[in-house]
Amino acid sequence: MEFSTLAVLGSQWGDEGKGKITDYLAEQFDLVVRYQGGPNAGHTVVVGQETFKLHHLPSGILHPGKKCVLGDGMVLDPVTLQAELTGLEQKGVIPEHLFISTRAHLIMPYHQKLDELEEERRRVEKLGTTMRGIGPAYTDKYARQGLRCGDLLGSERALQKKLQQILDTKNELFTRLYDSRPYSLADLEEAYLPAARGLKPYFTETALLIHRELQEGSRVLFEGAQGCMLDIDHGTYPYVTSSNPTAGGICIGAGVAPRVIGPVLGVAKAYTTRVGGGPFPTEISDATGDRIRQVGKEFGTTTGRPRRIGWLDGVALRHAVRLNGVQFLALTLFDVLTGLERIKIATAYRVGEQQITHFPPSLETLEQCQPVYLDFSGWEEDLTQVKSYSHLPPNARRYIEGIEETSGVPVGLVSVGPRRDQTIVIHDVFK
Ligand code: IMP
Repeated sequence: MEFSTLAVLGSQWGDEGKGKITDYLAEQFDLVVRYQGGPNAGHTVVVGQETFKLHHLPSGILHPGKKCVLGDGMVLDPVTLQAELTGLEQKGVIPEHLFISTRAHLIMPYHQKLDELEEERRRVEKLGTTMRGIGPAYTDKYARQGLRCGDLLGSERALQKKLQQILDTKNELFTRLYDSRPYSLADLEEAYLPAARGLKPYFTETALLIHRELQEGSRVLFEGAQGCMLDIDHGTYPYVTSSNPTAGGICIGAGVAPRVIGPVLGVAKAYTTRVGGGPFPTEISDATGDRIRQVGKEFGTTTGRPRRIGWLDGVALRHAVRLNGVQFLALTLFDVLTGLERIKIATAYRVGEQQITHFPPSLETLEQCQPVYLDFSGWEEDLTQVKSYSHLPPNARRYIEGIEETSGVPVGLVSVGPRRDQTIVIHDVFK
């Protein structure tokens, strides 16, 4: 049986504008599924006059009638999620078709505290996490001491017992290692558990739902959070998140078989950004970087931190293309480059006397990498109203061709602004 799915995945260090692309494509799908990460993600989606900032929820939520799934592999913060839902309702968006996996893990208040304390203890080599408790929540999942959404569906007595047991262990850490105050059940009862209980109507066995929908011919869009270079296994470890944003993560995090995964659309900015610490070979720390940051409004949706800016890294992009099986690229924030005299793409790295064309796994090697650049002439024309590829200035088209040659895959979509209608279609990425 043929399934109709598309995966929209980040090909860089997150913040590629996946939210805008998902929102643009969502009309063609019945279900939009998130499968990893949590409120460390941040999407800004502009619909008409309204700007929506989403963290857990996929941008499909802004399309009436679309089913939205928060899948098994996610970690959820009930207080933030409730705030997101309330924010949507205040703007007239009613999340009628939201389904939250009973297998998804809950980020507890002590996970956020641990995120903070662990980052403080790292002193010099801070990871620069989003402080949302993501790492500690995934740590507890794998240590088999996490709390899952489904745990809220059992008896209150069993829940309290489980929580007390977890708190007993955690409090040893807080008081003995971190010299911090312990947590009590009463603390959790204040805001946290009421918010979590409020989510119960949305709890579902989502893998089963996705399976049934696929059997019935529904079209499913899998929306990645973060990006390939933040993947716990394939990114710039340890400067990574704690989940697998890459295509392989879909099977685990959504509970679907590999044969279900269809075409993959890799989303990449026309340049590169990263937030937090870690190596960044094409980083530009001069006035050009500042200009791109200002024009591209490159400040984190979740944390407000200024993002680090760099030229497009073709080596990292090829890494993402290979790992995810990217068929098409969606280039975002393309309009931001208008007015730059020269634009560069890194096609390889020089390490001492050697030239390498693949992304090295070792941080030590990465720190020595000097990008080898292809240089392009810029353009002066405003692109924000351009509707077709042929109307792009010749230098902008040359730059796109350079990206295609470097990455080895065609560019399917080019985004020239935050609105849905500011999207140039070069190839129909989902037929
Ligand atoms: P964590 O996911 O909060 O543990 O953060 C680990 C690393 O991933 C840090 O460098 C964060 O800045 C980065 N990160 C996490 N989520 C995102 C995102 O949605 N966009 C960009 N960077 C992110």
